[in-house]
Amino acid sequence: MEQQKYMVYFEEVAKWAIGVKLLLEEHSLTAEPFLELDQELTFLLSKVDEVTNNNPITEEAIEEVKELVASLFQQAQHLFNGDRNKTTQRVPIGEHTLPPLPYSYDALEPYISKEIMKLHHDTHHKSYVEGLNKAEKMMEKARFTNNYDLLKHWEREAAFHGSGHYLHSIFWFVMKPNGGGTPGGSLLGQIKKDFGSFEQFKEHFTEAAKKVEGVGWALLVWSPRSHRLEILQTEKHQLMTQWDTIPLLVLDVWEHAYYLQYQADRAEYVSNWWNVVNWDEVENRFAQASKLKWKSF
Ligand SMILES: [Fe+2]
Repeated sequence: MEQQKYMVYFEEVAKWAIGVKLLLEEHSLTAEPFLELDQELTFLLSKVDEVTNNNPITEEAIEEVKELVASLFQQAQHLFNGDRNKTTQRVPIGEHTLPPLPYSYDALEPYISKEIMKLHHDTHHKSYVEGLNKAEKMMEKARFTNNYDLLKHWEREAAFHGSGHYLHSIFWFVMKPNGGGTPGGSLLGQIKKDFGSFEQFKEHFTEAAKKVEGVGWALLVWSPRSHRLEILQTEKHQLMTQWDTIPLLVLDVWEHAYYLQYQADRAEYVSNWWNVVNWDEVENRFAQASKLKWKSF
């Protein structure tokens, strides 16, 4: 039985490798990296042949092929995405793009219908992208013209649409057809450490999601400060934050931060505050934070 399952897996692998090779051929992709990929796919096919001709198929052989497939898959994805693969590229101001869904609209059925996915991704997420781009352009214009009259409005827009864009860009990718189950590896270990058990985590997250007042999100987050996982709710997502960003420099403008000395003159406080900024620490935070680069859209 087990052996039969392995055979099905290897057949799928071979089908995929042949499919990619055909694609390379069809589009006459003969640049160096494509040729390299082609050669490695040939090697993979010969490996699959070799393994399936050896009875019985061993765990070791399976692991070897799995590793090869994972690395080739990544390579192929990178090559075929071409300039859309911008993992390390800076998104220019006002040029965010709608990430393509990593599966078809109906792939999550029956749990999430095709109609919802289409509307949610093509209409709602798209409008977040457009709104964020507009807000960024308008703030850029404010910097050029030194006219900040509408800054509050555009910051709100950037927060609302930015959070919408970034959270949805996470959302599509943390789902997949035939998903579910439990996580593995170090994540499972951390969940157990921080929530007691996976079941307790799941229950807490479920309740957090159900109890979000009005619109919003439930989020599992990593706190670099407490070195722990946390479950958070966000009611709406636009309350002047862009989720999926990391604060580097912050300025407290609650009244308790300046009132005793400046009374209502917040402007004076802000202006003077620049004299005490510790840029070494901000640099340090930037050096750490900028190592984290998700694929850009
Ligand atoms: Fe949404």
